[in-house]
Amino acid sequence: MVDPVADPKVDGVRRISILGSTGSVGTSTIDLISRAPERFAVTALAGGANADLLARQARAVGARFVAIADESAWPVLRDALLGTGIEAAAGEDAVLEAGRREADWTMGSIVGAAGLAPTLEAVRRGGIVALANKESLVCAGRLFTEEAVRADCRILPVDSEHNAIFQVFDDARREGIEKIILTASGGPFRTLSRDDMARKTLAQAVAHPNWSMGVKISIDSATMMNKGLELIEAHHLFALPEERIDVLVHPQSVIHSMVSYVDGSVLAQLGAPDMRTPIAHCLAWPRRMDTPVERLDLAAIGQLSFFAPDTERFPALRLAREALRAEGDAACVMNAANEAAVAAFVDGRIGFTDIASVVEETLQRCPTEEIGDLEAVFAADGKGRRIAGEVIAGFAGVSIAQAGAAI
Ligand SMILES: NC(=O)c1ccc[n+]([C@@H]2O[C@H](COP(=O)([O-])OP(=O)(O)OC[C@H]3O[C@@H](n4cnc5c(N)ncnc54)[C@H](OP(=O)(O)O)[C@@H]3O)[C@@H](O)[C@H]2O)c1
Repeated sequence: MVDPVADPKVDGVRRISILGSTGSVGTSTIDLISRAPERFAVTALAGGANADLLARQARAVGARFVAIADESAWPVLRDALLGTGIEAAAGEDAVLEAGRREADWTMGSIVGAAGLAPTLEAVRRGGIVALANKESLVCAGRLFTEEAVRADCRILPVDSEHNAIFQVFDDARREGIEKIILTASGGPFRTLSRDDMARKTLAQAVAHPNWSMGVKISIDSATMMNKGLELIEAHHLFALPEERIDVLVHPQSVIHSMVSYVDGSVLAQLGAPDMRTPIAHCLAWPRRMDTPVERLDLAAIGQLSFFAPDTERFPALRLAREALRAEGDAACVMNAANEAAVAAFVDGRIGFTDIASVVEETLQRCPTEEIGDLEAVFAADGKGRRIAGEVIAGFAGVSIAQAGAAI
């Protein structure tokens, strides 16, 4: 076998930054680079509020710059890094600075629309951006991808479904592609009626059957809004119209997604449900790297099953398709309303099935407007949050079983 020709841009030490290093995707990324320290040098780490973990990560990987969004966490971060020589700062501007610092590869894994501005800083710098923060694309899709083209930035999808498609998508011969099929586990409430879902608690909503993830995406998986966000993300990443993106419920999460070709061939990527596989694929791209991920044992699994999604019981999926078809700021408003509704569910202010109702009512109250620039994206995000807040207030007085429950 012939060794691939060494390419210094690919095979040299990769300078990497992780935006959202203290989260679920961020800690998996740290885990992988810590296993191959000779291949990576950490430029910057950024997090939201967990100063203690951020400082421990910075020390462990020898980061050069560390940023924390929450200014009240600054004293803890500063004291924890005393004497290390690691540069640190706090506040939103510091997180933007982390995105701007010179790096070859950046992980965008801040949760929610808060990730948009810092991830865009990394995109504008060029190089590779591994994108986990799907909300960036949902809010600013076309503007985001145009910035990437302008800056010669390669976006690599981290989401397991989009990473799977990326691995089997023949981009050079797009005319042969018929459609893409996003698989969905169906979440913890896959078989429940709406009435049964309405009584579910926060702890039950975040207990995903296959994946270990952050709180927000776990709740999005339970409502299936996560698949709706992924549908919009796929539309922007692979430049396919909404009607050529199918969703298929596959409870075992073994097939991570598929591409269907005009000759009837269907190509899929399979693996154990562990985010370290798609993250490693992005970290080493275009090469591969070892991971400690459990190997797939199909004989032990025995059977794989598939179902059509039920948009009556999971209306979030229908709402996302409608928002994508509506164009303009609809997807951004939908995302903002969903973030506000998920936060209200976490705080015990609304019930589980109210999440999709809040999103639907917010979309009905917000006529779709054009999005011409990033200012319009931030305005649409603000509008969605404000209207969703009014809708949520209208749900006040509903008895919520899980009010105040800790995760
Ligand atoms: N988890 C998964 O398996 C998975 C899979 C596919 C895609 N994704 C996507 O990846 C993103 C992250 O998901 P996750 O599950 O890793 O979330 P998570 O565990 O909740 O972590 C979120 C990260 O964002 C940071 N953060 C929050 N607000 C911030 C702000 N204003 N400025 C800077 N950092 C901020 C958090 O910092 P602190 O914790 O320090 O506050 C944390 O590091 C989401 O968009 C999600 O949809 C996740």
